[in-house]
Amino acid sequence: MPPRSPFLFLSEADMVAAGVDDVARSVDVADEVFRLLKQGDYVMGGVNRNSHGLVLVFPETSPFPNMPTAGPDRRVSAMPAYLGGRFDVCGVKWYGSNAENRKRGLPRSVLTVMLNDKSTGEPLALMAANRLSSSRTAAVPAVASRYLPAEPARVLAVVGCGEINRQAVRAILSQQPGIERIVCNNRSREKAEAFAEWLRAEYGVETAVAGTARECVAEADIVTVAASRTAPLRIEADWFTPHACILLSGPMQSDEKIWTESRVVYDHVPLHEAYVADARRADDVDKAYLGQIGGYMYRLIDAGKAPPLAESEDLGTIMAEERPPSRGRTVFIASGMAVFDVAWGFDLLESAKQKGLGVELELWGFDEAEEGGGSLAADETAAGEGAAA
Ligand SMILES: NC(=O)c1ccc[n+]([C@@H]2O[C@H](COP(=O)([O-])OP(=O)(O)OC[C@H]3O[C@@H](n4cnc5c(N)ncnc54)[C@H](O)[C@@H]3O)[C@@H](O)[C@H]2O)c1
Repeated sequence: MPPRSPFLFLSEADMVAAGVDDVARSVDVADEVFRLLKQGDYVMGGVNRNSHGLVLVFPETSPFPNMPTAGPDRRVSAMPAYLGGRFDVCGVKWYGSNAENRKRGLPRSVLTVMLNDKSTGEPLALMAANRLSSSRTAAVPAVASRYLPAEPARVLAVVGCGEINRQAVRAILSQQPGIERIVCNNRSREKAEAFAEWLRAEYGVETAVAGTARECVAEADIVTVAASRTAPLRIEADWFTPHACILLSGPMQSDEKIWTESRVVYDHVPLHEAYVADARRADDVDKAYLGQIGGYMYRLIDAGKAPPLAESEDLGTIMAEERPPSRGRTVFIASGMAVFDVAWGFDLLESAKQKGLGVELELWGFDEAEEGGGSLAADETAAGEGAAA
């Protein structure tokens, strides 16, 4: 009998029905992932098993008319991982990003997640992952907001009013219910106004729109930064409150003080070690550094102005060792890891199965009576002849 290898296709609507918008749940799942990261029960890509992923970076120009060329936020990226614990599954997030997408009525990035059996590699599910990805990204700073601030937050600043911060605010509010006032800043003011309006309607909190990032962060206990890379964002250290918990999901420029005079906490130190190792192989190391959210830190470490990564703190360590929260200013650097997509995807797949959601597909597609597995046999021959995959 030929194998069937059934797997579930889950559309974005199925993901919503499965619970992708359940922020409290997504934060709990992300919390579990941080603990598994600390234990080392995971594998990501690359020789060091800690790579963020593999990105297609298009050239500035090309002699080939169809080849994509570089543009704002333009890349195609694959992020594979195995995650242990109760998840015990492999998966990959595969997405394309292009600022131009908006002109076609599409989000900046279009994402899918595939989960696979850890032994056979058979697909378990292919899922629409725009909400999955933004909610898993948002859950990470929300876990940080659970462990890093010493005092309950009252004022939240939002810099960059896009999809990631929409989810981040929801997730942070689930951890910091004392937040009374939210100040929003975006490159285009209309978007910040719409964001503030949404917050008032959904949460009934007091909101304000700030014309500059400086005004936005001036009174904030927690700051969530997730601006796209289309226009450089710069916020000086002294513009923040002395106790601000600054959660970076996107890049931010600042002066040296922000990095040298704050408690800097990484999402996962081995991930940043892998970034540095990769960047050092690039033609332009500084450019490769600055393509990363933690790039300014890597520069300072090389210059001997900040402690080496191996001596730096990450969130999993703080959680596992129950290190005390911060009274002074903290900067949390979250660069994103496929283990979070795999974990949240797995959790939602379990929920989808319980609820009978999605469409079951079969990988091989042979009718038993008709084919008797003939094409699979042909496939084996190809493998025997040295097929690479
Ligand atoms: N850390 C992670 O795991 C992770 C995952 C996904 C995305 N991201 C990053 O998060 C950021 C936001 O992603 P998104 O999907 O919400 O993008 P988006 O395009 O939906 O929204 C970004 C918003 O930032 C605004 N913006 C751009 N420059 C600004 C500036 N200088 N000041 C204020 N606002 C500015 C834009 O106008 C836009 O409204 C991106 O940098 C993206 O690469 C990080």
